[in-house]
Amino acid sequence: MTDTNDSIAILGGTGDQGLGLALRFAKAGRDVRIGSRVPERAETAAREVAEAVSGARVSGFGNSEATQGAAIVILSVPFEHTASTTKAIKEALRPGQIVVSMGVPLATAIGDGAVRTLGVWQGSCAELVASLTPQGVDVVSAFQNVSAHRLRDLEHPVECDVVVSGAPAPRKAVMELCGLVEGLRAVDGGPLANARIVESITALLIGLNIRYRVPEGIGLRLTGLPDRSA
Ligand SMILES: NC(=O)c1ccc[n+]([C@@H]2O[C@H](COP(=O)([O-])OP(=O)(O)OC[C@H]3O[C@@H](n4cnc5c(N)ncnc54)[C@H](OP(=O)(O)O)[C@@H]3O)[C@@H](O)[C@H]2O)c1
Repeated sequence: MTDTNDSIAILGGTGDQGLGLALRFAKAGRDVRIGSRVPERAETAAREVAEAVSGARVSGFGNSEATQGAAIVILSVPFEHTASTTKAIKEALRPGQIVVSMGVPLATAIGDGAVRTLGVWQGSCAELVASLTPQGVDVVSAFQNVSAHRLRDLEHPVECDVVVSGAPAPRKAVMELCGLVEGLRAVDGGPLANARIVESITALLIGLNIRYRVPEGIGLRLTGLPDRSA
């Protein structure tokens, strides 16, 4: 990857969360490569982004083609399809690329409710992805606590903290991505093993959305963090 490569692939970018990120990153001027199992679906999603964001740099591909050459590859498929999707793009991944795991092992994967999570042998969805990616590819966990509805509403800032976990250099690169979306604040979440905590917070947020009747999605804000931007 070169420093000038600003492309972001979003696999499963045809779905709720992925399309939301695609809209936001396209609005920020980044080159967005939407991936799908069916290239035509990705092309349709890319047209939707282009219609919503004037001057958007966005295209649709099959998942492997979207992965090729992208600096950052975001996996945006349901937890139960994470392993198969990661295996399907394995040959397309190259050292230096960063894979972002956004998946949450919700119990819906086994027909149970969305307000609890499943145990994952590796510890988290992110660590499952890390166990399947080739050497030299870094996996970072991020965006699990951000609501798709808020992402897709381009008229308003997203207002959510994003806890980012992974090895230091790729973690920093993904923290910088958060700054592209108005209202998102990146929080240094330390090593990838912390993904299991962040993923389970999503189940809590879904329960809060139900109890407080906020279908748009409740976000996360941590207080007392020193401002490191100064
Ligand atoms: N929705 C939210 O508010 C939210 C919030 C936080 C985190 N997340 C996480 O973000 C990820 C995506 O969520 P989502 O709500 O966008 O999911 P989704 O809309 O249900 O699905 C996303 C995409 O996954 C692909 N997909 C579906 N079945 C598949 C299969 N059998 N094999 C491979 N790919 C398949 C589809 O893309 P193609 O058919 O085009 O291949 C689909 O458009 C999940 O891991 C979720 O936990 C979601």
